[in-house]
Amino acid sequence: MRRLLWGILIAALLAAACQPAATPQPTVTPQPTATSQPTATPQPAATPTPAPGAGAQLPDLGGRELKIASDTTYPPFEFVDPKTNELVGFDVDLVNELCRLLNCKPMIVSTAWDGIFAGLEQKQFDLAASGITITEERKQKFDFSDSYLRYGQVVLVRADEERIRGKDDLKEKMVGVQIGTTNEETAKTLVADEAKQLKRYDTFDLAVRALLAKDVDAVVIDSPAADGFMAQNPGQMKIAGEPFTSEDLGLCFPKGSDLVAPFNAALKVLKENGTLDRLYQKWFKEYKPGQ
Ligand code: ARG
Repeated sequence: MRRLLWGILIAALLAAACQPAATPQPTVTPQPTATSQPTATPQPAATPTPAPGAGAQLPDLGGRELKIASDTTYPPFEFVDPKTNELVGFDVDLVNELCRLLNCKPMIVSTAWDGIFAGLEQKQFDLAASGITITEERKQKFDFSDSYLRYGQVVLVRADEERIRGKDDLKEKMVGVQIGTTNEETAKTLVADEAKQLKRYDTFDLAVRALLAKDVDAVVIDSPAADGFMAQNPGQMKIAGEPFTSEDLGLCFPKGSDLVAPFNAALKVLKENGTLDRLYQKWFKEYKPGQ
């Protein structure tokens, strides 16, 4: 009987000895996960300034909030993703990357195309990013960054179009463009009678809808945007002929802006460290190496 009691006592002691050994374990395991989180969060906060390989010379805009005007109806430069309802595009990524290097906060303000330039003149915006071509005429009133893309204009037609094979076939056709663009200027030279044949729309989105509705026969548009609209309307349109202009896009600033030099410095970094190439590949069908 006594032996039995001793046996039970020893068994109980053994069991008790094993249990506490098992309990500390679970308290140990959560710890690493708990500690790794707090150490992970401060790290990114410490890294942003020196991290992106910017070199020490880039100006620091001290977290400045920048109002950036953009006509956000222009895929793939700036548009609302129909699936997520979010504003996305090449220019959006570009200003985010630039501000990451310069320590500024980009606030994109959706603005009608003509409102962009009026707002810049009144210094309501710090800059505009909207697939804007650097032209001599615009340079009279605004400052531009260095070029971030070179491309050409094209003729966009319906997929079943057979009469129009390029820019020289537009003389007697109805042509749609966005008003106030370099594309409007080009289209004027391609039709015989601008008053009768040129239809000017507030956005390229409307011009493309007019094309699909057969209100116009062609749209004269920047080639990346032609690709962007074709991607949004699969199988419905095609490009007639080859790109026939050479234009450079830039960020547009009010005249005399103190931001031009910092943005050019940061743009240079993005060209050199391959970020710009990555963005070209992400957004443009035809990959264009940086200049
Ligand atoms: N590149 C042309 C221009 O500067 C057209 C730009 C249109 N951009 C836009 N977001 N709608 O005149």
